[in-house]
Amino acid sequence: MNLLVVGGGGREHAIIKKLKENPSVETIYALPGNGGIAADAVCVPEIGTKDIEAIVAFAKAHSIDFAVVAPDDPLALGCVDRLHAAGIPCFGPDAQAARIEASKVFSKNLMRKYNIPTAAYEVFDDPVKALFYLRTASFPIVIKADGLALGKGVLIPQDLTEAENAVKAIMEDKVFGSSGNQIVVEEFLTGPEVSVLAFTDGTAIAPMVSSMDHKRAGDDDTGLNTGGMGTVAPNPYYTAEIAQLCMDTIFLPTLAAMRAEGCPFKGCLYFGLMLTPNGPKVIEYNCRFGDPETQVVLPLLKTDLLTVMQAVENETLSSLQVEWLDETAACVILASGGYPASYEKGKRIHFSAALPKNVTVYHAGDKLTDEGLVTSGGRVLGVTATALSLEEALNDAYAAAETIYFDGVYLRHDIGRRALAALIH
Ligand code: AMP
Ligand code: GLY
Repeated sequence: MNLLVVGGGGREHAIIKKLKENPSVETIYALPGNGGIAADAVCVPEIGTKDIEAIVAFAKAHSIDFAVVAPDDPLALGCVDRLHAAGIPCFGPDAQAARIEASKVFSKNLMRKYNIPTAAYEVFDDPVKALFYLRTASFPIVIKADGLALGKGVLIPQDLTEAENAVKAIMEDKVFGSSGNQIVVEEFLTGPEVSVLAFTDGTAIAPMVSSMDHKRAGDDDTGLNTGGMGTVAPNPYYTAEIAQLCMDTIFLPTLAAMRAEGCPFKGCLYFGLMLTPNGPKVIEYNCRFGDPETQVVLPLLKTDLLTVMQAVENETLSSLQVEWLDETAACVILASGGYPASYEKGKRIHFSAALPKNVTVYHAGDKLTDEGLVTSGGRVLGVTATALSLEEALNDAYAAAETIYFDGVYLRHDIGRRALAALIH
């Protein structure tokens, strides 16, 4: 079979490596892919993830048997709708279902209508009304741009002045473009965060192993928000009891709500949860695999990934047993110095030692040049180790990370520290 994967980050590298385990897979094309992915797939750097016409034309020209659309942008732009119209089976939600991530107003209203636990909120399309409301609000409060904003559309002002600046930036200065035409202002929740990715064919659901992201740039959760600086799986806060509660009050009701709205969700649905003192609540939905959650979750998948994805597409997931290894995984991101603010590119990447069998390096932001691999993005590599205990996985991931060098390399030193502490208590 010939497969196509849309995307070019660490998440896509993890998906591709897993798809390759299926013996019927001949060629995997990555659009655009990256320097490291080129070792596992045929990369097409000329075709970007938002160039839907070119993606569909490429799929037709290369007799693609199955496509995986991984990032949010092409999903929201209807890439899956277009591939289906061209007769190509694929994994991922259509544009209507992708609204669950692409519009926070849509997802918040969905949760309110169907009684799915989430933070209390108000929607505004007029900055004057938003500011009036904020004058009597209590702080901290959460302000979210409605649309996609590269994971940066959430601001948490601590007082009225910060809130006024946030509304001005989003709604008047349009720092996130038209994504800021509407905002959601919501209650600030507290508690441990858990990411749960789930395979779903619209009706049946197979949740993946839970995970914990580390979103802030600095140790001890300081500094700016990033796409994610590291992950561990499973998340020790997510007990079997909480998992059952989430299934009953969040996962199944969300799938039923999407069906009732006439836009059943097929693909990977990402539940960003907060375990609050009043029970688990939805912080956000994503219409796709998380990055870098995928880099710790997929290595623990025992069942063949392509088989699971085909069951999602064919709506036969209920008859498939999706199995997981009883192990743990940890991923440490090696980023360019300065990320998520400005950083330099083009730094040569050096690997000084062979990696042990339980360690995999997923390439996120690099490209191949005559000199070899050089950095080309903020998050450059994700070093994942699997092991029987989280402590071992973390030790092995950090030990391997130390053997990799590029000028300005930056990493957090406390990935998994909170998870380890939660395991001990
Ligand atoms: P999001 O982009 O929706 O994942 O939000 C980014 C981060 O903002 C989340 O991971 C949370 O840490 C935080 N956040 C979002 N919504 C809330 C909320 N209602 N209360 C507290 N923190 C929040
Ligand atoms: N790591 C967070 C996300 O993928 O949205």
